[in-house]
Amino acid sequence: MAEPNTIITFANQKGGVGKTTLCMLFAHYLVKSGHPVWVIDSDGQSSIAHFRKKEIADGENMDVPFEVNVHLLKDKNATDKLIGKLREFKGIVLIDSPGNLNEPGLVSIFANSDFIICPFLLDKITITSTATFILLINRLRSTLGSSVKAELLFVPNRVDGRVGTKEEKRLISATKLHLGNFGNVTPEIALRACLQRTSTMAITDEQTAATAAAFDFIKETINPKNSTHSHE
Ligand SMILES: Nc1ncnc2c1ncn2[C@@H]1O[C@H](COP(=O)(O)OP(=O)(O)O)[C@@H](O)[C@H]1O
Ligand SMILES: [Mg+2]
Repeated sequence: MAEPNTIITFANQKGGVGKTTLCMLFAHYLVKSGHPVWVIDSDGQSSIAHFRKKEIADGENMDVPFEVNVHLLKDKNATDKLIGKLREFKGIVLIDSPGNLNEPGLVSIFANSDFIICPFLLDKITITSTATFILLINRLRSTLGSSVKAELLFVPNRVDGRVGTKEEKRLISATKLHLGNFGNVTPEIALRACLQRTSTMAITDEQTAATAAAFDFIKETINPKNSTHSHE
């Protein structure tokens, strides 16, 4: 059966929320569940591409689980051309987007994404900037109209369950409830030492376990039919 084409962008203009980390870990997750994956590194710092280059140079396992290509979003025409190619890929394209929302090609990326995964931290500053991000997407929807079809998925990341007063916990559930008006909120990903070091070549069992609840939720959302027919 031909694999359908899906484009998923990791976005949030706030840095440090886990876009790059979760993009890499989700790529491994999808490969392990049998999907062809292609990662586009559009982060201005090309973190994923740098990791890959270094890991290859270090002579780690040369069988790459997924391809990584750098594409900066400086030129809208070049990005539109890339999207044509991404659409032909029989599998799941994951795009790690930059924090800078002014890149010329970014609108095309958002307009052509089937899903936008927005990791966020449960602190006040990040919540405010996540709200700004939602405003941007909504503005795009009203400017571009129905061509923006991306569903939003919010991932609470780096959650430290041990801290938090009653008031903070109340703020957290209010935030999740509020974000639920704009998209799905996935189960939390905890703040874990094992998630601080990620590889483009492999995922550890510990990392798989730490992200399983959120990633299972996302997989169900992006392709509910596929998960019912899974042969695993
Ligand atoms: N759940 C987590 N637990 C612990 N560290 C995390 C977690 N998620 C991300 N990190 C770390 O936080 C930092 C920022 O993550 P990163 O993926 O680079 O964010 P972004 O791409 O949004 O700027 C990195 O050092 C990363 O290793
Ligand atoms: Mg990043």
